[in-house]
Amino acid sequence: MDLLYLFIFAVSAFFTILVVALIGYFTVKFRRRNPDDVGADIHGSLALELGWTFIPFVLSMVMFGWGASLFFRLATPPANAMEVFVVGKQWMWKVQHPEGVREINELHVPTGRPVRITLGSEDVLHDFSLPAFRVKMDAVPGKLTTMWFEATKVGTYHIFCAEYCGTKHSGMIGQVIVMTPQDYEVWLSGGRSTGTAVENGERLFTDLACVTCHKPDSTGRGPSLLGVYGSTVKLTDGRNVVADENYLRESIMNSQAKVVAGYQGIMPTFQGMVTEENLMQLIAYIKTLKPAAPEAKK
Ligand code: CUA
Repeated sequence: MDLLYLFIFAVSAFFTILVVALIGYFTVKFRRRNPDDVGADIHGSLALELGWTFIPFVLSMVMFGWGASLFFRLATPPANAMEVFVVGKQWMWKVQHPEGVREINELHVPTGRPVRITLGSEDVLHDFSLPAFRVKMDAVPGKLTTMWFEATKVGTYHIFCAEYCGTKHSGMIGQVIVMTPQDYEVWLSGGRSTGTAVENGERLFTDLACVTCHKPDSTGRGPSLLGVYGSTVKLTDGRNVVADENYLRESIMNSQAKVVAGYQGIMPTFQGMVTEENLMQLIAYIKTLKPAAPEAKK
């Protein structure tokens, strides 16, 4: 990221200096010396025209290609990433680790391991910004977003909210504490775990009575959720959608938005009954639901 930034800066600086210096030089060199001087006619130059079209084209395509490949890397968390939930709320960051340890305005991570952050917002637009890792992502109310980074050096780094979100926006800050993997394990075991995200999600699934309609077999009033995550779902209006995190989130909060074909839209909305953290836990649990005996694919 820094190298690309430096490259774009160097190219811009080179041409800015070149153009300004040439303007200065030509102003002096071709100044009018006599009141009746007339400038020479210019009839164009194909070589020049091609040159100043082709060179900027190549340079801008290098910037584009380089930038796009970095963007795709940023947008695709590695499969082995550890998953951390972060919820923005006026005016703090709530963090939950996969093992269930929670923290506020602090994020402990080990070195050498990609960290995938699933980001939500309890109220308004925030932005989780980690300048040291060159990543930031909006926390958008009503949907989940993701970002990832991998820390390489032990230390303490800033967390900022990078989206104006109210009076105490400037105080919505925190620290990423990067530890060696050994120290991280020690830190984790010392933290007060309130159950893993999946355990909490499973409890909510029972407490909220999801389980009464979403039975593992197809006998429930709602579709079975076994293997739903990542699958393609057919809706009553004929559309096919992929059941990703945002689909699951929407189906819990606004159950009528996308009703699965063959079912009635009788599910109540859970808007106001579950927090963003609860939602992430429910989704974490639903993701673990796999068909009991997967049939061999042909
Ligand atoms: Cu949250 Cu600015």
